[in-house]
Amino acid sequence: MFFKKKTKHAESLDPNNIPQHIGIIMDGNGRWAKRKGLPRSAGHRAGAETLKKIVKYCDKIGVKCITAYAFSTENWNRPQKEVDALMDLLYMYLQQVEEQFAGTNVILRVIGDRSRLSEKINKAIDYAEDYTKGNSGLILNVALNYGGRDEITRAAQLVAKDVAAGRLSADAVSEDTLSKYMYTESLPEVDLIIRPSGEYRLSNFLLWQAAYAEFWFNNINWPDFSEKHMEQAVLDYQKRNRRFGKV
Ligand code: IPE
Ligand code: IPE
Ligand code: MG
Repeated sequence: MFFKKKTKHAESLDPNNIPQHIGIIMDGNGRWAKRKGLPRSAGHRAGAETLKKIVKYCDKIGVKCITAYAFSTENWNRPQKEVDALMDLLYMYLQQVEEQFAGTNVILRVIGDRSRLSEKINKAIDYAEDYTKGNSGLILNVALNYGGRDEITRAAQLVAKDVAAGRLSADAVSEDTLSKYMYTESLPEVDLIIRPSGEYRLSNFLLWQAAYAEFWFNNINWPDFSEKHMEQAVLDYQKRNRRFGKV
């Protein structure tokens, strides 16, 4: 179904072993811009276009969910000018949800601590989520003011509150219970985490979910990341032997 000949780059993929959920650390926007003599914000704009392209490709090959790291809890430590530019860009994309998602079947969701985002952005997120919630295609989960440690801390707080209120017994708290308190609660397990730009770290991304994810790195800056790279990542994923601790 997804693999008719006309599906570019998808010929050699095994349709029965497509990663259900891919995490992407969209890194290298600044370096891409610098190399071109452009402001960093131009790199972020180009990166947003790349995400659209990659989401479209992933939807086509049968990926169910992408979690895209757009702004970390640590990114507030960048110069105010850059933080402002990132927030403006984000707002612009959310506001244009009708145009951005026209002709796609993508469901947009945002994860992360929204309390530090402006009211304007929060409203735009609500609108965009509502606008796409009736779609039935790939879930694009945008991680915004997201930190893996923050997510686990939040889960611990929520569990503690439920225990204190008598809704949950402390002894009954299991890995499954905790998973339900994560932002990714209703999503498939993360099978694959991709980081371009030549950095080999998680930078606080999906710490809980990464337990048995496969990792894939390359040194392409995110704005130059293409369908071809994504295809290679999935092909490599398909060659991995996922043992989950077994023999
Ligand atoms: C990733 O690109 C985007 C965000 C972190 C928001 P960078 O801005 O980190 O680009 P580099 O790493 O400086 O090249
Ligand atoms: C990770 O990239 C965060 C996002 C891509 C949103 P960074 O560029 O912030 O990560 P570090 O600082 O290199 O670890
Ligand atoms: Mg970076």
